[in-house]
Amino acid sequence: MSDRKFQRTLITSALPYANGEIHLGHLAGAYLPADIYARYLRLRGREVLYICGSDEYGVPITLTAEKLGISPKELVDRNHASIKDSFARFGMSFDNFSQTSRDIHTETSQAFFKDLFDQGVFVQKTTDQFYSPSQQRFLADRYIEGTCPKCHKEGARGDQCEACGSSLDPTELLEPRNVQDNSPLELRQTTHWFLPLGDFQDRLVAMMDAHPEWKDNVLQYCRGWFQDGLSDRAVTRDLNWGVPVPLPDHEGKVFYVWFEAPIGYISSTREWAAAQTGPDSDPEAWRQWWQDPGTKLVHFIGKDNVFFHAVMFPAMLMAHSEDYVLPDNVPANEFLNLEGQKLSTSRGFAVWLPEFLDQFEPDPLRYTLARNAPETRDMNFTWEGFQARNNNELGNNFGNFINRVFTFIHKYFEGVVPQWSPEVMTDLDKQALADVEADLAAWAGHMERFEVKAALESCFHAGQVGNRYFDEAAPFKTRKTDMDRCGHSLVVSIQIIAKLVVMLSPVVPFAMEKVWDWLGMQTDLWHGGWDEGIDRIPAGRTLGKPEILFPRLDDEIIQPQIERLNKLLEE
Ligand code: 2FM
Ligand code: ZN
Repeated sequence: MSDRKFQRTLITSALPYANGEIHLGHLAGAYLPADIYARYLRLRGREVLYICGSDEYGVPITLTAEKLGISPKELVDRNHASIKDSFARFGMSFDNFSQTSRDIHTETSQAFFKDLFDQGVFVQKTTDQFYSPSQQRFLADRYIEGTCPKCHKEGARGDQCEACGSSLDPTELLEPRNVQDNSPLELRQTTHWFLPLGDFQDRLVAMMDAHPEWKDNVLQYCRGWFQDGLSDRAVTRDLNWGVPVPLPDHEGKVFYVWFEAPIGYISSTREWAAAQTGPDSDPEAWRQWWQDPGTKLVHFIGKDNVFFHAVMFPAMLMAHSEDYVLPDNVPANEFLNLEGQKLSTSRGFAVWLPEFLDQFEPDPLRYTLARNAPETRDMNFTWEGFQARNNNELGNNFGNFINRVFTFIHKYFEGVVPQWSPEVMTDLDKQALADVEADLAAWAGHMERFEVKAALESCFHAGQVGNRYFDEAAPFKTRKTDMDRCGHSLVVSIQIIAKLVVMLSPVVPFAMEKVWDWLGMQTDLWHGGWDEGIDRIPAGRTLGKPEILFPRLDDEIIQPQIERLNKLLEE
């Protein structure tokens, strides 16, 4: 497979805004697919680092903090803690989860800026922007309201009129005023630094051309931008909440969030390296992950972030005087709808992760979101679909098979893997093992290409093979007539289970860690578990006692969820 040229994989998920809780839409886009990929690689014993953190600057954060009457730092610390906690409960296996408001990020992003600045990469421009004399500061678009120049309705925002849908430049507004105190504004000149993306266009096109395997949505967006020609992008803003621009006479200026947030991936890697202990630890180890060509860099994002990850951040990496690796892939997912409607966080029409986890286990949600992954088009989450995936697929297909086999071995073989010999394997035995082996190979190919949905198809098929084999080999009958044959059927079943655990573990890790344990495996599942002779579970090994892996979800627990959402739709 193409990526064998790489020694290590650095995986990032878009840094979530610390402006609220995580909901299912976020999970399906940038988080769960990345976690599944990271777990897959660990299972195969590859060297992986999975990096993320909270994105804590930007105007929406200050607006929320002002509404709550707390400082922006207090707000982001609070939200960061909550996001980190619910991600952990959901089984997100980040190696580091940082915050962009930490010193390490200030230092890293300022040093990055200085490197580009000293090389003369940026261009300076002076523009007219609204200034609030009452607050003595320049205002971001979202702090400005006025009368729409198109439909003449009042209350149009600096960037958009909600009444007629026109997107606006704040200088077009009639009678612009400060949202917070209604005071009038004046236009003043201000100076900012811009990244001339056009200078990098040829190299960006070459980067894209070298990756025909990138997803169609990403390639299409990029081609469109390249066709229009890339323009200069501001990298600084007049705000007081952000990373200060490290230049003399730049008071009141901070980095534009989309300049510093992606550098957050580097800061978080540095923070990880600095936190390592032991004889081989080295605070400079982050460089290997960012500057050694043996690193495969993969950014998992939602489709709204393609520009920043496939154009802007790569241009920044190209511009740096040290050699940085460029993304090898930018798997961008489409959006997730809820009960056939667009999610709306302002109307509360969403399913929030912490609330979900207070009532349900993480595995069935991970499975459902992975089965419905919005890989190539927008997908839909419904509570009934969730219930059906849990009961019919996790429960009846996988859980049932695993449970039948373990229970049988405990009941009739004292929990010990029976003796067996390859010579007495029947065609039925061999065929079942070969079918599952083929599923495993197909599964691995899909996982390498970020095709989680297709990988789960292979996995589901393997579960069906297992159930069908158990029915046909019928150890429940042969135990009365031919105990040796009966034992062989159970050995074959156990081998199938070992492969199923490997295939399912990135998606439903909590349940599969248990089965791995019942199988008495010696290797840590997440450090090359795949390689531990899953074909060779030795006869004589005592197996753990099974428990129900995926309890049924009844209507009584699902219906109230549907009713809650329906009510919101009626409001
Ligand atoms: O869209 C978002 O949620 C942004 N907070 C993603 C930032 S990704 C990265 F660049 F930090
Ligand atoms: Zn309007």
